[in-house]
Amino acid sequence: MNLSTSVVPDADLVDLQPTPERIAADVVAGLSTSPKRLPSKYFYDARGSELFERITHQPEYYLTRVEIGLLESRLADIAAVVGPRLHVVEYGSGSGHKTELLLAGLDDPVAYTPIEISRAALLHSVARLEGRFAAIEMLPVCADFTRPVSLPQPGRAPRRRLAFFPGSTLGNFDRDESIHLLRAMRDTVGADGLALIGIDLHKETAVIEAAYNDAAGVTADFTLNLLVRLNREIGSDFDVDQFRHRARYSTERSRIETALVSQRDQQVQVDGHTFQFEAGEAMQVETSHKYTDADFTALASAAGWEVADSWNDPEDRLGLRLLARA
Ligand code: AVJ
Repeated sequence: MNLSTSVVPDADLVDLQPTPERIAADVVAGLSTSPKRLPSKYFYDARGSELFERITHQPEYYLTRVEIGLLESRLADIAAVVGPRLHVVEYGSGSGHKTELLLAGLDDPVAYTPIEISRAALLHSVARLEGRFAAIEMLPVCADFTRPVSLPQPGRAPRRRLAFFPGSTLGNFDRDESIHLLRAMRDTVGADGLALIGIDLHKETAVIEAAYNDAAGVTADFTLNLLVRLNREIGSDFDVDQFRHRARYSTERSRIETALVSQRDQQVQVDGHTFQFEAGEAMQVETSHKYTDADFTALASAAGWEVADSWNDPEDRLGLRLLARA
């Protein structure tokens, strides 16, 4: 995916991209807590989306490869269960590769709404999908999907809505946030709406840690790009060379915890505030939860959903769960 190619903005794009003011306020709030943290959603500027795409091609990062294989092999079952004429709403669509598979496999989908925080990634993927699926109405929304979004209405009435949330992106949220998000998704799809969620399953620590510490260093570049982006967009002065990527699995919390570790005592200025970092201090930038079946079912049920169907790859590395209203 080359995002530096300029794409003509689509007149139908709903653009609720986070403003620099919003980003600065989130960053100042995150750096004011102990331990310090930065929101992982801001990884995805044009460069961050490109780097994430490269992560998905690293040999250690099994998630995307395994999920695509799973989707390909079970799509006929999934399509039969969800039925025809859907309005598909995707949360964090990225490159749109999994979307392409899904839309091609469903029975006469009516419309597609990707909700994506990276405008560049969104425009690029919609331009490609439009070319391939002339019969499907494209109704993109550029927004942070953790905030309320009102859904564009398709011209042709859909039979029901399907929220599509692959990639185990749900894992980037803590328990309360996940429940909140799943509940909002339930409201968004309405009365007989469904959700298809991808979750990374519990497995050996070494396998998980390798996925977030690829040998080529792409994940480290991806993590550090957050600081580059903030310096450019909100005028902060993070010294990018004085922070290191660190990703460790916490067995106690069943999650990868990614941090940027300060290499020395240093100060950082953000929007008129000064933050002091000590040598070795870890700033939390991302968590990626891994689920047991019981964990996920409990989470879904706390948000008013029940697990109607479930599919795992042959090695139980990754799962797709179809949720219906409880
Ligand atoms: C896109 C959020 C699913 O948490 O595995 C990949 C992002 N971060 N490597 C994940 C990510 C570092 C990814 N998600």
